[in-house]
Amino acid sequence: FNVPAPSNEPVYSYAPGTKERTLLEEAIQAARAQEADIPMYIGGQEIRTDKRSKITPPHDHQHVLGYYHQGTTAHVEQAIDASLAAKANWENLPWEQRAAIFLKAAELASTKYRYALNAATMLGQSKNPYQAEIDSACEFTDFLRFNVTYMSEIYAQQPPANSKGVWNRVEQRPLEGFVFALTPFNFTAIAGNLPSCVAMMGNVVVWKPSNAQIYSANVLMKVFQEAGLPDGVINLVYVSGPDAGDVIFKHPDFAGIHFTGSTGVFQNIWKSIGENIHRYKTYPRIVGETGGKDFILAHPSADIAVLNTALVRGAFEYQGQKCSAASRAYIPVSLWGDLRARMEKDIQSFKIGGTEDFGNFINAVIDEKAFDKITSYIDRAKNNADAEVVIGGDYDKSKGYFIHPTVILAKTPDYETLSEELFGPVLTVYVYEDEKWAETLELVDKTSIYALTGSIIAQDRYAIQEATHALRNAAGNFYINDKCTGAVVGQQPFGGARGSGTNDKAGSMINLLRWVSPRTIKETF
Ligand code: SER
Repeated sequence: FNVPAPSNEPVYSYAPGTKERTLLEEAIQAARAQEADIPMYIGGQEIRTDKRSKITPPHDHQHVLGYYHQGTTAHVEQAIDASLAAKANWENLPWEQRAAIFLKAAELASTKYRYALNAATMLGQSKNPYQAEIDSACEFTDFLRFNVTYMSEIYAQQPPANSKGVWNRVEQRPLEGFVFALTPFNFTAIAGNLPSCVAMMGNVVVWKPSNAQIYSANVLMKVFQEAGLPDGVINLVYVSGPDAGDVIFKHPDFAGIHFTGSTGVFQNIWKSIGENIHRYKTYPRIVGETGGKDFILAHPSADIAVLNTALVRGAFEYQGQKCSAASRAYIPVSLWGDLRARMEKDIQSFKIGGTEDFGNFINAVIDEKAFDKITSYIDRAKNNADAEVVIGGDYDKSKGYFIHPTVILAKTPDYETLSEELFGPVLTVYVYEDEKWAETLELVDKTSIYALTGSIIAQDRYAIQEATHALRNAAGNFYINDKCTGAVVGQQPFGGARGSGTNDKAGSMINLLRWVSPRTIKETF
């Protein structure tokens, strides 16, 4: 069965004078000019409550973008009931019909809703236009289109042999129950992908986004609805994590969780599921992408320009808040002086400010809690003999949560910012002696408690091979002579192991296979 061949959505430049730039600027103005009133969506109904929470741009926390309606455990129960009520019709719909809904959603997201999605991501999550574009316009639509292709391949896969008088086949059944999607603030695309790829395989979903992403989640939901997603297939609730967990993990129809967020939260979820395992009809699927402490390792043979670009882009784009962001670097002493000067020059040229000014490369970190956490690490580094703040180190939260791109030089390999996740625009560099290359490879592997992304920058082919082999368990996405961010759907399936998750690669057949339960059928004639 042919589905339209997927290709990656082209990235618009939003260069001055282009039609696209005018449309995006107009969408931003329109969003800023109104106070949005954002309901939950349960069973296709808009649900409003008497408790509303304010939404403000992280870079301009006095401006009110709107309010969302906060729910309680009762709304979680209603969302589960609505999902179960929608289940029979949804799972009995031929998969081509489901595919068509998500292909239409991709079309809407890349055309009619492109600017509204980007504007919401820029204002609500403080992304510059390029970062919003590669996320909510491109990565989101890529997930939808490529997943439709993977889905069609899954349904086409059948046992390769039949003995005489026998017909063997495999039926890919949706999971028995509902799936919980718990999604992060940092990618609108991930927030849209986690519930939609589960639903695509015939499942029903209760979706709880991060509070910091509700503003763009609302636009995603409008896209799904306009694409024709039946009521109750995806139910969007805004409740506290504990309120959601209390109801969901005790429910007999809980069939799985699709999660992106912190390692600590995921571990607590896993424990709750374990404690309640006797309640469930089926063993729930647990799929999670969690923390990271992603590295860039340079060999003495590294091309210094390539290394510099990998570091400044990998560490500071979107204020270091990508799960893939480079947050530690291992640099040979022979390159450090030149590299430091190059990084300093580039970083000083970055403009910092709100996303409404398209010239700003660095915007705000997501909220005050993140700001306080990240800056406490910077302050400690300023006052610790084992560290030195060599670039940046300034911050200001009077208007928005702005932190200047910061480079910390760690003088010991176990300095705290070489292993702890800050999730902000802070890169920690450890400088090693060139002849200690082999020891450094061991050090990087040993300190990779997380294992999401990592890069080797080298021209020496033996060094590339040594690093590729020695660090094979230290990163789920490994880059050679490139930054460690920017995995593209359909090109680099994304996910990590160790403390970084279950490595069920987002945007891949592996991931979609977690949302079906195969039944083998043998018929004898
Ligand atoms: N594509 C993103 C990255 O690799 C993550 O979703 O940075």
